[in-house]
Amino acid sequence: MEYWSWDDSLSIGIDAIDEQHKRLVAYINELQGAHKEQDEQGVARVLHGLVDYTVTHFAFEEALMARVGYPLSEGHKKVHEAFITHINRYAERHAAGEQITRRLISDLQIWLTNHIKNDDRHYVSYYKGEQSKPAEAPQQYWLQRAWHRIFSWR
Ligand SMILES: [Fe+2]
Repeated sequence: MEYWSWDDSLSIGIDAIDEQHKRLVAYINELQGAHKEQDEQGVARVLHGLVDYTVTHFAFEEALMARVGYPLSEGHKKVHEAFITHINRYAERHAAGEQITRRLISDLQIWLTNHIKNDDRHYVSYYKGEQSKPAEAPQQYWLQRAWHRIFSWR
C-alpha cells in the first residue's frame, strides 16, 4: 500500500507538469519505504535524488512560466528556492544523524499539496492563453500569501 497516492485533485491539467508532480509523489513514497525499513542510507540516497529531481522540475516550470509571460514568476521562483533550501536543511540534519525523516515526509506532502493546488494552478490560465495580465494584487502581496500558506502552517 502506497503512503501517498496520486489523485486527480492534484492535476493542474498540463500533462508534462502533472507527470513530474507524480514523480515527486513517487519519491516521497520511496522515502517512506526506506524510512519504514530503517534504511538510513536508502533515505539519504532517495533524498539526494529527490532534491536533484526537484531542482530540474522547478527549472522546467520556471522556463514554462517565462515562455508564457506569467506575471508572478519572480515570486513563484522565490517559493521554489525556499523549498530547496528547506529540503537541503533537512538533508543536512539527516546526514548529521538526526531523526527527521518522518517530519520531512509530512512537510513535503503538505508543501507540495499546497504549492500544486494554489501556486502551480495559478499559472495554468496564462499557459492556456486565457489570461495575459495579473488579475490580482502586486507580486509582493502574492508572495507573502504563498509563503504563509506553505511555510507557516505550523
Ligand atoms: Fe511550482
